Amino acid sequence: MTLVLGIESSCDETAAALVTGDRVIVSERIASQIAAHQPYGGVVPEIAARAHVDRLAPLIEAVLEEADVTLSDCDAIAATAGPGLIGGVMVGLVSAKALAMASGTPLYAINHLEGHALSPRLADAALEFPYALLLVSGGHCQILRVDGVGQYRRLATTIDDALGEAFDKSAKLLGLGYPGGPALEKLALKGGASAVPLPRPLLGSKEPHFSFAGLKSAVLRATESGAYKNADIAASFQQAAIDCVLDRLQHSFPELGDVSALVVAGGVAANQRIRGALEGFANDRALRFVAPPLALCTDNAAMIAWAGAERLAIGAEPDPLEFAARPRWPLDPNAEPARGAGVKA
Ligand code: KG4
Ligand code: ZN
Repeated sequence: MTLVLGIESSCDETAAALVTGDRVIVSERIASQIAAHQPYGGVVPEIAARAHVDRLAPLIEAVLEEADVTLSDCDAIAATAGPGLIGGVMVGLVSAKALAMASGTPLYAINHLEGHALSPRLADAALEFPYALLLVSGGHCQILRVDGVGQYRRLATTIDDALGEAFDKSAKLLGLGYPGGPALEKLALKGGASAVPLPRPLLGSKEPHFSFAGLKSAVLRATESGAYKNADIAASFQQAAIDCVLDRLQHSFPELGDVSALVVAGGVAANQRIRGALEGFANDRALRFVAPPLALCTDNAAMIAWAGAERLAIGAEPDPLEFAARPRWPLDPNAEPARGAGVKA
């Protein structure tokens, strides 16, 4: 069975994992940088890059040791090569290149979004192409049709904030600090989902895209008004976000064509209310719903190793050691930029 070493360093998690071609996560390590960024209320790129430098090598050593293998036992090294904070991406990619060169192991430069997009197949052997994918993370909010490894058609994206970004910014306004998404979800459990009137940007729009900037501004006004409890604002924000997501999925649905399942991936896929709402949406359409386990939703190296394993399985050529890190790297290079967007790849 093939064995792939995965490396992830595109944001604030430093991670390494060994994954087999038959979906076994042999060993994995994640070093979270939450404590390092917490005083600043968000990720500081320079601090992140330095932390990746300090932490990555020991994590790689640990996963190899735990699995009792060496680099020459690996069939490939897969590293995130973008999109993300460029300093961090370069740390992971350069390390991978050095290891690949020293051990003669093939290198796969992985698009971080492809890692998220294929992660549900690591957890679920029955998930077949094509599937509909809602990719919701801190930097991205997209609806895609996934036809195969490397075959992604983007139907919708955000014209301003990503969904995770909206969670994080709203959480900050509510004094919840960083990282905001999980904290907001927790607070929302104690509030009323219709207690605070909040907008649903682009609801019913003929364009397929998302927008969350107006929702975040409304959270700011609600907070400043002093008229509402924070838990009510959190619950109402989460509900408004869910309504937007379901409406946009509904809009794109006919365009997606025949698909085997509705799949959600990315950090925001860890949100239980969002998972529940999507499951309902899929059930109503007699469609299978697939969501990876929580640890595979937020950034991790197993999904990067798995993307490498998928590339190996289809006989994809390894990438050259000259492969350059990419701060922006759309999954679907042919997708038109969303009109009015402050273009996010
Ligand atoms: O995929 P990810 O770990 O990193 C990126 O590639 O961006 O996603 C991180 C994002 C953050 O915005 C975080 O607040 C959000 O996912 N997130 C959540 C939850 N857990 C993480 N948002 C809402 N509810 C959650 N439980
Ligand atoms: Zn991510």
